[in-house]
Amino acid sequence: MRQSEPLRALVRETAVEPGDLIYPLFICPGKGVRNPVSSMPGVFNLSVDEAVREAEEAAQLGIGGLLLFGLPESKDEAGTGAWEADGIVQQALRALKQSPAAKKLVLIADVCLCEYTSHGHCGVVVKSREGPNANFDTFDVDNDPTLELLARTAVSQAKAGADVVAPSDMMDGRVAAIRKALDAADLKQTPILSYASKFASAFYGPFREAADSAPQFGDRRSYQMDGANLREAMREIDLDIEEGADMILMKPAMPYLDVVRAARERVDVPIGAYQVSGEYSMLHAAFQKGWLDQNRAMLESLLGIRRAGADFIVTYFAKDAAKLLG
Ligand code: PBG
Repeated sequence: MRQSEPLRALVRETAVEPGDLIYPLFICPGKGVRNPVSSMPGVFNLSVDEAVREAEEAAQLGIGGLLLFGLPESKDEAGTGAWEADGIVQQALRALKQSPAAKKLVLIADVCLCEYTSHGHCGVVVKSREGPNANFDTFDVDNDPTLELLARTAVSQAKAGADVVAPSDMMDGRVAAIRKALDAADLKQTPILSYASKFASAFYGPFREAADSAPQFGDRRSYQMDGANLREAMREIDLDIEEGADMILMKPAMPYLDVVRAARERVDVPIGAYQVSGEYSMLHAAFQKGWLDQNRAMLESLLGIRRAGADFIVTYFAKDAAKLLG
């Protein structure tokens, strides 16, 4: 049954379609800005006007949606840029909503503080030890005060036009807090795509250049998951669904395909997987060296994620893959 392409196509079990792909965009201040991200060939920081052009191309290619990240004009300890009405992502959402592309794309806003806080952590930071030597060597990200800021962020994004809000911070209880705040703001129809199992991963490295969100001290291991834990990932997913998550997102993808598969077998909600920056950069490094065939390796990496059980994939390859698949 492998002798011809029509026969192979007839018995093929899994497909990747442009509509399954979500394209991440990094929005920055200015006009006509297209700053390349050095560790991610083909990825740019885009001003709002450029993001609108990008969205039009994505819509034409049949891509399913966009996931928006922001690089604010300035950062502070409370991540004000994440939730202010005129924040950079809010500006982008308003502009995108005006464009015809918006009718064909799901606009998803990433809900997190790390791009907006001066310290680069995903929540409110407090010193965990007082005394003469107290410094941020021993700090805590304070879960509960963070929830209020995340909820504020989600509400302001939904008001600005986000079709879906996607919390990626990994604080406990944030899905419930966001749901409650959305409902109270009469945004009952806005679904939550929760990054339910997000592992503390080396593969986020290039993203932190793209989003300028590297933690200034410490790391994220006190709130993102330990890569060794599959059962704990299932608990995180159950909790988020109980709290009101409508869809879940898992990341990274390639080193955690078993987690995607286990989630698929456990829950019925739609599942997405995020092929993260490091997965993209690593493949591109091999393409540049001529060590891997670009198109085949790209499509195979996406097919593997779909086969593991993801309904949709967040990927920086979205446009390139859609061009081939279309
Ligand atoms: C924000 C966030 C991160 C990513 C998505 N949302 C970075 C992080 O947790 O450090 C990573 C995405 C990627 O690597 O492509 N919390």
